[in-house]
Amino acid sequence: MTTTLTDPAPSVTPDAAVHNPRAVERLVTGQATRDGDGVKLTRVLTQPLQRRLDPFLMLDAFGSDDADDYIGGFPDHPHRGFETVTYMIAGRMRHRDSAGNEGLLENGGVQWMTAGRGIIHSELPEQEQGRMEGFQLWLNLPAADKMGTPGYRDIPTGEIPELRLAGASVRVIAGASHGVAGAVQKAHTEPLYLDLHLEPGATFEQPLPAGHNAFVYVYRGELEIDGGAARTSVPRERMAVLANAADRDGVRLQAGPQGARALLIAGRPLDEPIAQYGPFVMNKQAEIFQAVEDFRAGKFGVPPGR
Ligand code: CO
Repeated sequence: MTTTLTDPAPSVTPDAAVHNPRAVERLVTGQATRDGDGVKLTRVLTQPLQRRLDPFLMLDAFGSDDADDYIGGFPDHPHRGFETVTYMIAGRMRHRDSAGNEGLLENGGVQWMTAGRGIIHSELPEQEQGRMEGFQLWLNLPAADKMGTPGYRDIPTGEIPELRLAGASVRVIAGASHGVAGAVQKAHTEPLYLDLHLEPGATFEQPLPAGHNAFVYVYRGELEIDGGAARTSVPRERMAVLANAADRDGVRLQAGPQGARALLIAGRPLDEPIAQYGPFVMNKQAEIFQAVEDFRAGKFGVPPGR
């Protein structure tokens, strides 16, 4: 093997280009609802979309300057069979769980919790005024991991890798973008979770495996998705489901005149049956009955309390 004294010139990441971008299959408006102890939120990814957006089960967006909309928080409640990924844009939320974990989730930070065979947790605001804004995504676990050990990881904002391109900065929460590896890498579902900050008119593209399900959720400004033959405008607070086709290799988008901030989320589908009852997501109904029984029998551990 030959060695050279000079470093090779930096090269463009070979897989960063998109040649034949995906079109938008449909735009989705979330459903306004309340959850936990009266927290006002928008359920963007609802149960009827779970098959289509497998392995993702739910996406909630919350954002309010009015403490009445969030002050109740989410007191003790159980989960089994999947993962919750909470991303705070603004505000402070305290997490405590039956596995003995405790953490403070703050501006720009992420909490990645694996419920596995069962966890009871509370998520409570640690502020009485000011803005509370963020997202909670539910990511399914493969059948083989649903009864695994519960886990929890706090990722403070400073530990989320950031990619800088002309007119764009990208926070890489999971997966990888243009050669920047995200804070979280996962086998099986290979989730990609990007928070895009785009200046007015800026473009961004991201290669995506054709079989992975993908969507974009715009939370500031607006953007256009260039699907080759068709361009689709995506206004604020809309989710664009990206069409899957064997010959399409990624997504290409452009911010509107006010710029845009958006989540780009993608993952490999599990293609396994989904049985859900509230905070329990398993494969079969019998496993749901078992989850309810185990929870009632105290097998999820001691609740952390309010
Ligand atoms: Co929860």
